[in-house]
Amino acid sequence: MKDNRCLVNIALIGFMGTGKTSVGRLVAEQLRFEYLDTDEMIQAQTGRSVNDIFKTDGEPAFRALEQMVVEELASRAKTVIATGGGLPVNPKNLTSLKTHALVVSLWSSPEKIWERVRHQSHRPLLHNENPQAKIHELLAAREPFYKQADVLLNTDLRSVREVAQQVVHQFRLETSGR
Ligand code: S3P
Repeated sequence: MKDNRCLVNIALIGFMGTGKTSVGRLVAEQLRFEYLDTDEMIQAQTGRSVNDIFKTDGEPAFRALEQMVVEELASRAKTVIATGGGLPVNPKNLTSLKTHALVVSLWSSPEKIWERVRHQSHRPLLHNENPQAKIHELLAAREPFYKQADVLLNTDLRSVREVAQQVVHQFRLETSGR
């Protein structure tokens, strides 16, 4: 058990396209935990898509909603939480998640990320002329935040199943009461 923390959940942080959703679903299945996604929570609570919130209200409004759902997560247990890629940039979010969750960061190279997201259209930050340059820029800016996780896992050369196994293993190690 980490000092002063009550690790009853798992939070997955990391850039878009690093596998948070697919890994998170599998981890939840294996541990018989519930699965939650912060983007989906925001969409359910507002009745609007992430794209629409960004376009109509702007990124700061989306970030405020993100912080609100993170605060709600503090009352959860036995939950795997997949977080939006920009969520850990707000230090309050990471501090809050760390009180109740083992925070695992999924890392990928910009090339691999591009390969995974290039045919998807639901990510407003990549709706620009040069999405590849944007990935490089954002990833570099966010790296210090992603590195504040308890566990870092590179997902470039591992299958979803292997990454999920690693997450489950780390969680069991941390919560085995040693
Ligand atoms: C964002 C990532 C998205 C979503 C929003 C902003 C980001 O989530 O929260 O489009 O800032 O990187 P995913 O990481 O699940 O794609």
